[in-house]
Order: sequence, then structure tokens, then C-alpha cells
Amino acid sequence: MLQCRSYDRCSTIDVRYPATWMHDLQYNDTITTVSGYLSMNILSGKHIILGVAGSIAAYKIAELARNLTLEDALVDVILTKAAEHFVGQATFQALTGRPVLTDMWALPEDGVVGHVALGIHADAVAIAPATANTLARIAAGICDDLLTTTVLATQAPILCAPAMNPQMYAAAATQKNIATLRQRGFTILEPAVGRMAEPMVGKGRLPEPDVLEGEIRALLGRRSGPLRERQVVVTAGGTREPIDPVRYVGNRSSGQMGYLLAALARDYGARVKLISGPTALTPPPAVTVIPVETTIQMRDAVLAACVDADILIMNAAVADFRPAHALVSKIKKSGESGLILELVQNPDILGELKEHHKLFKVGFAAETDDLIANAKGKLARKNLQMIVANDAVASIGQPDIQVTLINADGEITALPRQSKSQAAAAVLMAIAQRFNERAC
Ligand SMILES: Cc1cc2nc3c(=O)[nH]c(=O)nc-3n(C[C@H](O)[C@H](O)[C@H](O)COP(=O)(O)O)c2cc1C
Repeated sequence: MLQCRSYDRCSTIDVRYPATWMHDLQYNDTITTVSGYLSMNILSGKHIILGVAGSIAAYKIAELARNLTLEDALVDVILTKAAEHFVGQATFQALTGRPVLTDMWALPEDGVVGHVALGIHADAVAIAPATANTLARIAAGICDDLLTTTVLATQAPILCAPAMNPQMYAAAATQKNIATLRQRGFTILEPAVGRMAEPMVGKGRLPEPDVLEGEIRALLGRRSGPLRERQVVVTAGGTREPIDPVRYVGNRSSGQMGYLLAALARDYGARVKLISGPTALTPPPAVTVIPVETTIQMRDAVLAACVDADILIMNAAVADFRPAHALVSKIKKSGESGLILELVQNPDILGELKEHHKLFKVGFAAETDDLIANAKGKLARKNLQMIVANDAVASIGQPDIQVTLINADGEITALPRQSKSQAAAAVLMAIAQRFNERAC
């Protein structure tokens, strides 16, 4: 049985988009939901127009169309005439389960005149690959085919992912068209740099499908997510404190939880800065990543990012101590004697933000003993709004984790043992709830 509690700024519960993942997220038979955002999956139930223009990169969009469909989005693919030279309708039809659209003269008139209906009902329009030609025509306001007409008729946010030969991309005309579209509020992605279809390397490649999906999620989140117009800073990973040029004092943090939280905050509509210690993870798309190595670097980056921030999620495993002196030359083994390292205390990052009262601060406590008591102590000492307590011994190297949320008002919620992505979803949902209650 799923009970729902609303926590959005508006007070009604909107159950338009129940999503399958919710069945995994319930705890104690109760799931707290954000009104209008029942689904953490921002793609669920969203109507997305995928405009595919005539570039050799069009084949990549088949995977994007498939992934969006698997995430419960309704994906309508529009192929330009040139795109049909590169990819076939049958591919997209099979992957999306919906008819592929190519001709504005052959659309059903379902209450609204067909050629504008798609644009009117869309939640987001993504043109990928966007050719130089299509960018030029949109910039000029030309609407002589279904894609350009849809773009002109829509109020939905529009994303363009240019893909073309590097010289075509750098051409003054293309750059001017891109600038014009940016000025009109279009989100235009930078092409990736790499090997092109023709034997040359340059800037002009279409970003990979997972990057495009992340950008579409951000677009949808900024339109309707519970943290839209908010600035969220997330720290992740462990810091490294140099001993000498090749050795450091570190910890076992993988950074996974912080990266998941950053991606989810993006889906919720926030502008996200992810301040990350070294990890083996791929940064989430549409998130600003600020790489750091030491705790002092992380402190400086966090203080700078928090000047304008609304929420700080301090998930990084920050080293409490660092070697007093980082040596410039590698330490050599000499004789039989061991090595004594002198450690000094690192700055307390959350402690330094104690007086930043506007900032909604969330800490993490990974403890080996007296978990709840230690976490409560940290919450009070550092003036946090919420702390996520995590049994360090039970979590290390495990795919599943069990965390307990403790709020400043004393409410304690133990979440079940679950995957890191489920736990991150529940944690971010609770943060959004508490933040929006406070902001009301
Ligand atoms: C093999 C081939 C590959 C092409 N690749 C691209 C490309 O990657 N990007 C681009 O802007 N144009 C590319 N073009 C040119 C466009 O297909 C052409 O400008 C076309 O008119 C675009 O029409 P559309 O914008 O309506 O899809 C390519 C043309 C050919 C023949």
C-alpha cells in the first residue's frame, strides 16, 4: 500500500505520472512525494519531440530514442527529408512504438491543426543531430517542413545538438545562427571533439546518447522540477592529502552516492555544481564539475560555490587530517626503520559555513560506532538541517546501503537497505521536501 504525502510549495497531490520506480522506493509503507513530481523519474510521461536532421551522426539517436522510451517518455521522432538518407523510419517506429513523422501534409488533425499539434503538446524538443542547414533555417524563422514548423509553434524548451564537419561548425554563418538561437533561449550543446566520419579530428561530433539524455532531463527539470531555479552544491568522492609526489593519505569513498545525488538534483531542475575529489566515475551531463584533490582545495571550492547556493549536500569523504609537510621528493626506504608521519587537522568545511543561515545544509556521517548519537552530535555542532547517517563498516564495498535520515527538528527516518541509486533517490526527495517546506 502506497501512501502519499505532498510537500511541494503548492499543496495538491498530482498523480498524473506515477512511475514504476516508485514501487522500489517505498519505505515503512510510506513514500513522501512532491506534488506534481510524483515520479523521481523526470522523463516519465513526458512528451518529447526528437528532431533528427540529415547528418551522418543520426544513427546515434536510435539509442537515445530507445532509452527515453524505456524511461516511460512518449517519444515522437521527426525526420527531415535529408535524415531519411541516413536512418529509416522503421528503426525509430520499432524503438518508440509510435509512428515516425516526416510530412506535415500527412498528419491527423486531432482537434488541433496537425502541423502545430506536436509543438503545442510537447514538454521538450530536442534536435539531434542539428545540421548547419536546420540551425540556419530555424534561426531565420523558416518553417517549410514539419521539424521547423514544430519548433516555431512550440512553447516547450528546445535543445539543439549541432553535429557537422569542424569547418562547417566554425563557419561564421553557423556561429552567428547558434548565437541567435542562444539569445532566444535555446539550449545549444557544444559538439564533442574527436575523430569525424571523414578522416580528420576536430570539434563537430554529436555528444553520446547518455549525454543527450542528461541534457534533456535537465531541460525538463528546469521546467517543472521541485528544485527549479535553485542552486545546489554537491561534494563527492574522497580527498587525497599528499605525503610526497607519488603517495597520499586517502580513503575508500567511490563518490557514487554524490554523483547520483548530483544527477538527481539536476533532474529536479537545479543548477548543480559537483565538487569532486578524484574518482573513477563519469561526471553526470548538464552538471558543472569542479575537480579538487585535497581538503583545502575542496574547502575553497565549496565556500566559493556556496555564496549563491540554496542547498549544500556535503557527501564527500573529507580527510580530517593531512600530513604536516608534503615532501617535494619521493620518500626513500632507508635501512630497517619505519616512518612516522605527522598529521595536522584539516579545516572543518561545514563548520566554516555554520553562520550561512540561508543555506540548507545536509551532512553525511559515516560512522563505525554509535552511529545515531554521533550523527546527531554532528548535526547540532555544525548547524545542519539534515544529516544522513551511514554505517561505514556495513556499507564499504557493498552494492546496497542502509541510511538513516535525521532532521534538525529531531525526526529520524530509517530507510531500508537498498541500492545506492534507490537510497540517493529517497535522500534527495527528503531534501527537496524539507527545503521547500522551509522556503514556503
Ligand atoms: C554523407 C553526408 C553527410 C552529411 N553530414 C552532415 C553533418 O554531419 N552535418 C551537417 O550539418 N550536414 C551534413 N550533411 C549535409 C546535410 O545533409 C544537408 O545540408 C542537408 O540539406 C540537411 O538537411 P536538413 O537540415 O533538413 O536535415 C551531410 C551530407 C552528406 C551527403
